[in-house]
Amino acid sequence: MKETRTAVLASGTGSNFAALVKGDTGPGRIDLLLTDNPDAGALSLAGELGIEGKWMYPGPFRTRFALGEERKWADFLLGRGIELVCLAGFMRIIKGPLLEAFPRGVMNIHPSLLPSFPGLDAQGQAFRYGVKIAGCTVHYVDLGTDTGPVILQESVPVLPDDSRDSLAKRILEKEHLIYPMAVKAHCEGRLSMDGRHVYIKGTADAV
Ligand code: GRF
Repeated sequence: MKETRTAVLASGTGSNFAALVKGDTGPGRIDLLLTDNPDAGALSLAGELGIEGKWMYPGPFRTRFALGEERKWADFLLGRGIELVCLAGFMRIIKGPLLEAFPRGVMNIHPSLLPSFPGLDAQGQAFRYGVKIAGCTVHYVDLGTDTGPVILQESVPVLPDDSRDSLAKRILEKEHLIYPMAVKAHCEGRLSMDGRHVYIKGTADAV
């Protein structure tokens, strides 16, 4: 099967990036790590993992792209032959050019069972709310914040002696499992869409 050239966009530690590099992504090949944060742990991880890592200027804002800069990121990725973009702890709202460049080709991992607890500190939101079941979601990205069609979700029970951090740690372990699975299914051409519904061909085990 033809390989799918994949880029990961990360702003922080990069553990999901590492999980994608080390995990079974099938024909999905992680070629590039792109960051908006010159101090991102993900950037040094890229060096350790032998993946090209690069910082690019995102514009003067803290949590969103400048439109022209996002266009430059999209052009750069297209120029590198990238076909799939995976956001992994990328702390910036996408305004459009990346989605136009990669229609149904931008994914994100979010540490809650969406549509519950979108936005920042989803694990803390879930913990403070007092839910019994937390979890994580891989979804396609649209113009909203954590609103795109759901690809995979995994639940994580909240234990009586959990803290926000112990819960977040167990959620992160599940993130590292489902993100490579979703990328693999996408790159194998096993995902189809009908409106908001993402269907996965094959058995759940084959995901
Ligand atoms: C993860 O919890 C991810 O779901 C969220 O940000 C965190 C990034 O962690 N969007 P890492 O940088 O992948 O370790």
